[in-house]
Amino acid sequence: MQTGKSSIAIDGPAGAGKSSVARILAKKLGFLHIDTGALYRVLTLQVMREGIRPTEASAVAKVAKLADIEIVPGSNGIRVLLNGEDVSDAIREPKVSENVSLVAQHAEVREHLLTLQRQLAAPGGIVMDGRDIGTVVLPEAELKIFLTASPEERARRRMKELRTQGHKVTYKDVLLSIRARDNLDAERLVAPLRAAADAVPVDTTGKDINEVVREILEYLSAAGGLKGCSTDS
Ligand code: CDP
Repeated sequence: MQTGKSSIAIDGPAGAGKSSVARILAKKLGFLHIDTGALYRVLTLQVMREGIRPTEASAVAKVAKLADIEIVPGSNGIRVLLNGEDVSDAIREPKVSENVSLVAQHAEVREHLLTLQRQLAAPGGIVMDGRDIGTVVLPEAELKIFLTASPEERARRRMKELRTQGHKVTYKDVLLSIRARDNLDAERLVAPLRAAADAVPVDTTGKDINEVVREILEYLSAAGGLKGCSTDS
């Protein structure tokens, strides 16, 4: 499945900084960033648009089969298309976040997205972030990182992000919401959120994104580098 170029898997709970770290790291290495949470969010958006309950396994699985999802590189990170429509902003709405872990728990949904994720990863030279990348999607990834941070810090970061986007959210609500999502993600039967045995744990509490990226790059060069990355790292 893998080519000559390496792959990096970044997993961790909500708000640990996975996507930001993955985006910067990919840029520095000349790799492509694939945010797998976006795929689960797209399906959730479609489930909500069709008025389907996220717990209805067979109806949700049908949505997964019919949805045409594309990930395209944009000037400000990747854009996500659903049946040709750019839904990159819509999938970040708090309503989608509230339902996404319910959609992501279904085996058929995960099976469908597993195939898509492996197709996207096949050329190599990618940084893929999610919950089960190191354990299930890319168990052969050359580097696996498990990012964590305290729930309080993760809630503060997510609150800031949501307020910047114009959402009126309280710290308490955001903390409750990410805790609920973490529980569902960690306790589901299929591909639960957990660190791969060979993942490098990185606690981002009290660190800014660039510091975390530096830490990972230092780890990489100490480990002898990666195949296929650009030299400007
Ligand atoms: O960015 P944030 O941490 O809020 O979450 P995300 O990466 O956008 O993922 C949204 C949700 O999708 C997660 O809470 C999981 O329920 C699900 N997900 C998953 O099950 N497996 C993945 N590989 C990625 C996301």
